[in-house]
Amino acid sequence: MKKILVTGAQGQLGQCIRDAALEFSELEILFEGKEFLDLTNSQQVTQFFETHAIDYCINAAAYTHVDKAENERDLAFAINGEAVKNLAVTCAKHETVLIHVSTDYVFDGKKETPYTESDPTHPINVYGASKLEGEAYIRHCCPHHFIVRTSWLYSQYGHNFLKTILRLAQEKNQLTMTTDQIGAPTNANDLANVLLQLIAQNSTAYGTYHFSNEGAVTWYDFAKAILEISGFSEKVTVAKTNNYPTFAERPKNSVLSNDKLNKLLGISSKNWKESLETLIQTKW
Ligand SMILES: NC(=O)c1ccc[n+]([C@@H]2O[C@H](COP(=O)([O-])OP(=O)(O)OC[C@H]3O[C@@H](n4cnc5c(N)ncnc54)[C@H](OP(=O)(O)O)[C@@H]3O)[C@@H](O)[C@H]2O)c1
Repeated sequence: MKKILVTGAQGQLGQCIRDAALEFSELEILFEGKEFLDLTNSQQVTQFFETHAIDYCINAAAYTHVDKAENERDLAFAINGEAVKNLAVTCAKHETVLIHVSTDYVFDGKKETPYTESDPTHPINVYGASKLEGEAYIRHCCPHHFIVRTSWLYSQYGHNFLKTILRLAQEKNQLTMTTDQIGAPTNANDLANVLLQLIAQNSTAYGTYHFSNEGAVTWYDFAKAILEISGFSEKVTVAKTNNYPTFAERPKNSVLSNDKLNKLLGISSKNWKESLETLIQTKW
């Protein structure tokens, strides 16, 4: 039986992987949060890998505070850069396949069509730069890796746009949402399933892949759909703005092309709205 380690297990994606794992009973999975496996503590990581024979490590741990990262550069790079390097070196030493999750924010957003894996990267904020550094370390230190970039994650867990909109809908009658960024909202449960499929299918086509739900929308469109599906659209209206200042700059277009991973796994990524509907109807 393959033994899998999931790091960052208390985070949004970590918790979705725990749920998705119920459908993969052939996999033995150890879930470790920061409390017992802090990736910045290299001794702890070494000890963990020496104690457990891990075949695959899914790294769902990360520093994910996009705006705060502008003022916490060292911390962002320590977690998303240096700690990932140490994890990659450790995985290589123990012949563990490293499945690492990265972000659409490695791109600058100037492209007008979906980003493919071979497009040049050029992050425009500290978070994106720190994630890109982690990717580079993995390519250099751990040949048996999958780097899976994703975008605009939401789910029933953690802090995310869906939960924020549902909370605001209880408190306000009008919301203002930006139309100046386009991306693909991605149900973290779908991503979790795909990461486990990579393992279940024994794929050895190591490299970089993109995974998001299918489609391209603005935050305004996403908010409007959440309100409609959850039955709030009568009570709450959404206004558009194309100037919603945030501390960190964000790419204007961060839609990812899923073709490479769809082909590898023989799947077709779900439409963003269908997946949103399923989640709201089953979890709220
Ligand atoms: N959320 C998005 O919209 C989005 C979009 C694109 C890509 N991604 C990527 O997707 C992945 C999963 O994101 P997510 O939304 O699940 O993020 P999340 O909810 O913030 O989860 C990350 C987890 O990592 C933990 N962590 C932080 N530092 C750690 C350390 N030193 N050692 C071990 N664990 C540590 C965090 O713990 P604390 O909270 O206690 O610090 C948290 O539980 C990340 O790689 C992220 O970069 C996310």
